[in-house]
Amino acid sequence: MGLFVTFEGVEGSGKTTLINRLYDEMLRLGYSVVKTREPGGNKISEQIRNIILDVDNCEMDYRTEALLYAASRRQHLVEVIRPALEAGATVICDRFLDSSLAYQGHARGLGIEKVYDINLYATEGILPDVTVYIDVAPEEGLSRITNSHRKVDRLDLETAAFHTKVREGYLLVAGMFPDRIRVVDGSQPLDRIYADIKTIVFAKIPRR
Ligand code: TMP
Repeated sequence: MGLFVTFEGVEGSGKTTLINRLYDEMLRLGYSVVKTREPGGNKISEQIRNIILDVDNCEMDYRTEALLYAASRRQHLVEVIRPALEAGATVICDRFLDSSLAYQGHARGLGIEKVYDINLYATEGILPDVTVYIDVAPEEGLSRITNSHRKVDRLDLETAAFHTKVREGYLLVAGMFPDRIRVVDGSQPLDRIYADIKTIVFAKIPRR
């Protein structure tokens, strides 16, 4: 089985840039590596993503939201993640179930344990080998997004208090799974953050 690595963080934490850098470096070093993201990563999951993030769907019930994320995750796992791991590849995934724990479980108030249970059902117990959580203050992350050209989605429309709860949720979840989740200080310069990430990820890769 390959190594399953996930990245987590609030909006604008720099995850995507850092993932791209890690992916490019691993390819250059000759590793078999697959880069993907949630919600999405395949046709059905991208369709579910569009429903979840559509700014017209503001009446969406929180449990519906949690179930849609879990459904999208299930399809992504079956079609993309599990086959890649079985083929021995390293899978780098931008967000996975810890996003549901922080956003739906804690920030939406559904309960981290309850959301964990529906997600374990969706993944048949498959969890990342290592999760890098890039910790930045939500105001910092959101200001980075406002200054970028990314399209605004339904969750971006949430209040600052919601995004503060998301961060609080991530820190709670990191405390619940200290062996799996590594917290990286996202207020550092990008090169420093990247160096931390490399140390964490390469320590998990068996020597060839
Ligand atoms: P993205 O902007 O990183 O693509 O993520 C889309 C949004 O979906 C982002 O606001 C985080 C949110 N999200 C959840 O609320 N729960 C989840 O399980 C996932 C994967 C994402």
